[in-house]
Amino acid sequence: MSRVKHEFVEKNLGWLSVLMIIAVSIGGLVEITPLLFQSQVQEPVKGLKPYTALQLEGRDIYMREGCSNCHSQMIRPFRAETERYGHYSLAGESVWDHPFLWGSKRTGPDLARVGGRYSDDWHYVHLMNPRNVVPESNMPAFPWLAENTLDGAYTAKKMEALRTLGVPYTDEDIAGAKEAVQGKTEMQALIAYLQSLGTALQRADQE
Ligand code: HEC
Repeated sequence: MSRVKHEFVEKNLGWLSVLMIIAVSIGGLVEITPLLFQSQVQEPVKGLKPYTALQLEGRDIYMREGCSNCHSQMIRPFRAETERYGHYSLAGESVWDHPFLWGSKRTGPDLARVGGRYSDDWHYVHLMNPRNVVPESNMPAFPWLAENTLDGAYTAKKMEALRTLGVPYTDEDIAGAKEAVQGKTEMQALIAYLQSLGTALQRADQE
């Protein structure tokens, strides 16, 4: 008898779809619902600071240039990863990232804690042409970043939008945003962003 029922489901696309959606939804709800009530994944870690205006512009350039296609920002809690990259990533480190850039592709190394690992000069040379510092690198060069300058026309608006999503920008931050980025190169913004990555935990340790 149960065989017949199973055959019925497999041969009726409508029923199969409905039952599949129900089964998948239960799995999803069981996984997602508890997260909505856990403060650990909702509250910023100690030491977390919102991106400065320049870092925020750098983050947008990171997205535009598709850095996430080759770099994750998510250190998993495995020994091989924590020994190479540092403390595994915590949800509370990316509560103010909209959208988050965890990524899933690692052609290059994870960048979740790259902040402070190299000097600004190293990043400059590396982004101008990675092979000048890592001869075997297959990362593309991004020389135009050093030529393009920012006008800051939308920086304040971006920060206002992020504030509606809970990022604690002050009126002062927003008022000074344009001035903080105007005339800076995209390269400076991107490097400022890279140098900020993963530094919240270090800051929390020092406090
Ligand atoms: C086609 C894949 C690819 C893309 C796209 C790419 N990278 Fe890379 N990246 C790599 C590879 C491979 C390495 C390792 C070799 C090296 O250091 O150049 C690397 C290394 C790095 C490193 C050094 C990390 C470390 O811990 O040593 C940084 C920083 C970096 N990339 C930033 C960026 C940024 C910023 C962008 C976007 C503007 C970008 N990458 C785009 C492949 C890529």
